[in-house]
Amino acid sequence: MIILRTVNDVRRYVSEQKGRHASIGLVPTMGALHAGHLSLVEKAVKGNDVVIASVFVNPTQFNNPVDLATYPRDEESDFRLLSEAGVSAVFAPSVEEIYPGGVSAHSGHVYDLGSVAEVMEGKYRPGHFQGVAQIVSLLFRIVTPDRAYFGEKDFQQIAVIRKMIETEGIDVEIIACPIKRAEDGLALSSRNALLTEEQRKIAPDIHAALKESVEYSKTHSVRATHDSVVERIDAMPEMKVEYFEIVDGRTLESIDEWEESPWVVGCITVYCGKVRLIDNIAYRMPK
Ligand code: PAF
Repeated sequence: MIILRTVNDVRRYVSEQKGRHASIGLVPTMGALHAGHLSLVEKAVKGNDVVIASVFVNPTQFNNPVDLATYPRDEESDFRLLSEAGVSAVFAPSVEEIYPGGVSAHSGHVYDLGSVAEVMEGKYRPGHFQGVAQIVSLLFRIVTPDRAYFGEKDFQQIAVIRKMIETEGIDVEIIACPIKRAEDGLALSSRNALLTEEQRKIAPDIHAALKESVEYSKTHSVRATHDSVVERIDAMPEMKVEYFEIVDGRTLESIDEWEESPWVVGCITVYCGKVRLIDNIAYRMPK
């Protein structure tokens, strides 16, 4: 695996690969890699001649400076895992390389991300999706991948990226990959490393509550299902639901009746102490 630090290095590498008609898969990450990221890499390796992974903690998508400062980083371990997983090249630039004019999510271009970016994370993390669109569109323009891989834990992020490529006219296939979970059900996330031992023990209850709510939803209304999840999680020590929205999986608009959509997803964000965890579950899937 080769390590690329500059945009020019990546452009050169990509042009060599395109010269030999290799298909390119991109796995964008912010590092602190876990089995969830590796499942994206595995899929990318199977589906492309060459896989480029990026490791970049993008400052413009953090609306909370403490979150940025405490975001886990371990480049040495990341590179080892990516190399073992069969990645051809890793792009790990400095902040100055990506933002030579300084870090600002709103300098210049404002992305049209539509209504999917306004709800949930968009509401609670102002500017977050502009930052995501900024870095992901930049990566797409530098790497020009055939396919790009994203985890469904960040369900809304995938919808926003799909909208971004549509409005920006970027030609890339977005591959959504299923959530990877620990054996006890906790959705794998780089932020899990920040949980205390006690918090780590209770965090799987988020998924347990969501899973049980699928059964509950068969005999209860959307509102009752929503409230049962929030009440159960808020009753746990150290846990506080920031939002739980039961939405149409395509528009991300909240629904009032199960029949309103063939694709219904419950998206949740919970503070476990100071650690912000997100997860989701499907109540209905299109056939
Ligand atoms: O999902 C992430 O890790 C990040 O939002 C991404 C897509 C790598 C952009 O920084």
